[in-house]
Order: sequence, then C-alpha cells, then structure tokens
Amino acid sequence: MKTLEAIGLTALRRFDPEVAHGLALKALNAGLGPRGGPVTSERLRTTVAGLSLPNPVGLAAGFDKNAIALHALARTGFGFLEVGAATPRPQEGNPKPRLYRLTADHAAINRFGFNNEGMEPIARRLATRPKDAVIGLNLGANKDSADKSSDFAIVLTHCAAHVDFATINVSSPNTEKLRDLQGKAALAALLDTVMTARAALDRVIPVFLKIAPDLSPDEIAEVAEAANASGIDGIIATNTTLDREGLQSPHKDQAGGLSGQPLFEKSTRVLAQLAGLTDLPIIGVGGVGSAEQAYQKIRAGASAVQLYTALVYGGISLAGEIATGLDKLLARDGFANVADAVGSGRSDWTT
Ligand code: FNR
Repeated sequence: MKTLEAIGLTALRRFDPEVAHGLALKALNAGLGPRGGPVTSERLRTTVAGLSLPNPVGLAAGFDKNAIALHALARTGFGFLEVGAATPRPQEGNPKPRLYRLTADHAAINRFGFNNEGMEPIARRLATRPKDAVIGLNLGANKDSADKSSDFAIVLTHCAAHVDFATINVSSPNTEKLRDLQGKAALAALLDTVMTARAALDRVIPVFLKIAPDLSPDEIAEVAEAANASGIDGIIATNTTLDREGLQSPHKDQAGGLSGQPLFEKSTRVLAQLAGLTDLPIIGVGGVGSAEQAYQKIRAGASAVQLYTALVYGGISLAGEIATGLDKLLARDGFANVADAVGSGRSDWTT
C-alpha cells in the first residue's frame, strides 16, 4: 500500500462505514486509485468458463452495486470485476446503519438487503463500460417480488448485452427466503428459468451460481447435482456467513452476513468439497486478503478468486499486490500457470 492510500484509509475509518465506502468510490472516480490496469503475465493469464482473464484475482459483488466506478476499477490491478447486485426495480434496502467494521477480526457484517438503483440505470452505465475489461453482473431479486426466480431472468435479459458474465445470487442472507432457493427442487427450477432466459439472448454469456458457506455437506452435494444438470458455467463459493464463531469485535452480534478473515477457512472448505463434486469451474471467495490466501483457494480447487472485505483494510491496491504475489508463489512451486495449480492441494481442505 502506498503512503497516500494508507493516509486515505485512516481518514475514511473516521466515517460511518457506509459513508466511507461511498467516499472511497468517489475517490476512485476522481483518479486517486491505482491506474496501471490489470497485473498480468504468462503464468497469471487464465481462462474461466470461456472468459480470458489477465489474472485470476477479481472484485467480488457488492463493492460497486450500481456500476458507478467501472472505468476506475478497470484500471486497478483486478483481472475481472463483478458489479451489482442489480434487481429489476430499484430498492432502498434495510434501514441504516447496516454495515459494520469488525476491525479486530479483519471482517465486516452487512445487512444491506440489495439496496440498488435497479437494472435500468445500471444497464445504462454498463453500456458505457470499458470494453477491454472483463465485467460481470450479480443478479438479485426484489424483496417484495412474488416470483424471485423470474427476477433473476428479468435482470439477465435486460443487462446481458453489456456484460461478460452474470451471477445468480441465491446466497445473500439479507433477503428473506432467498437462501431457500438453494434447496434441490427450488434450485433446479430457478436454474431452468434463468437458463431458458439465457438461451433467448442474442449473445450467450456464461452464467454462474453463487452459494452460501452455511450449507451442510448434504446440501452442498445437492447444489452440485443441480448445478451439474443445469447447464450453468460455474459456481461462486461463497457469499457471507451467518456464523459468528471466534469473533472479538464489539459489533460481532449485529445481524447480517459476516465477511473477511473469519470466513476464509469455512468458505475454502465448501469450495474444496464442491470441487470434488463437479467439473464446473469454481470461483473462490471469502476472506482472501493476501497472495498466500488466493493461492490456497486455487490449490483447494478454485479457478479464480474474488475479494471485497480485505480492501477495506488493505486498500484497492491490494488487488495488484495479490496478483503479483500469486505469480511469485506459482513460480516458486514450479507451476507454469494458474490452471496447473487448480485443485493441487484440495485434500488439505477436505479432511
Ligand atoms: C457483499 N457481498 C455480496 N454478494 C453478492 O453476491 N451480492 C451482493 O450484492 C453483495 N453485497 C455485499 C455487500 C457488502 C458490504 C459485503 C461486505 C459483501 C458478498 C461478497 O461478494 C463476498 O461474497 C463476501 O463478502 C466474501 O468475500 P470477502 O468480503 O470475505 O472477500
């Protein structure tokens, strides 16, 4: 992290976390972030579900919910970006405060509840996106929707022309009944609805499914079965957790989803189990805050990784630092490229 970024992060910590996040996005748009573009090398370049990535380190959904900082984010070190969640209609989300820093735990708890401006303004911004970046959209459902499954298909249909991939997010803990869509029958029906919408697109894009870390081994097996049968292109593991084990911070009992360091082990175990049950590529998310942790996710079975919460503590330049460090770790262990390392340490996470 550069000195200026460190000073900026210290200043931002004086603000309420949601206000600070808005200011951080403004600072990025004002040109205060890294501007070198994605870190890349022969070793880091990789292909996931047909997407050519300059490096496998991506921005997780929720950081840029309304796609307002696409150009600035594309110039940071990330190899790909996921924006949203976007719902068909705009919605306020839950009452504030709804985002908490758990500094001692290097974590966060949020209960935003899909606050976003809705798919129309988001699609308009995506239409002016930087063309050379890899950008996906996280699909969400409106809280008061009578048919949440259709919401995912509606947003996909409306925005697909402007994105490289889309993610069905059935794993946010902050929208009532959303996670119920991960059950076997409900998930199969949902995936069918979304894949039917995808088949009707002018330009077919990869579709991923994002799952929760709080699934039992049996539930993970059911998700894998439904995913394998559905024709989707990959799985993102995982979203935030309801678990609160081992936390020290004063805000540890706030309601919502926990992200950051305490999620690393749990989400990596889910990823490793899933990797044994599917040939679909998996994007590993949850607690990645260093090159070593990105490398561990890849060795557990991830074809790429994403992060969000560690940026709150390490700054946006962490993206490039992780990609650069990952390159060195792959070289150290004799891997010619990312793909060669995927799953090479899976057994460490399944016992
Ligand atoms: C998120 N996350 C998230 N995920 C998603 O699929 N759609 C969303 O809209 C959001 N929104 C969101 C807001 C906030 C404030 C946070 C902290 C997180 C989850 C995120 O993409 C990621 O899966 C988890 O945060 C775990 O990764 P990290 O943060 O531990 O790197």
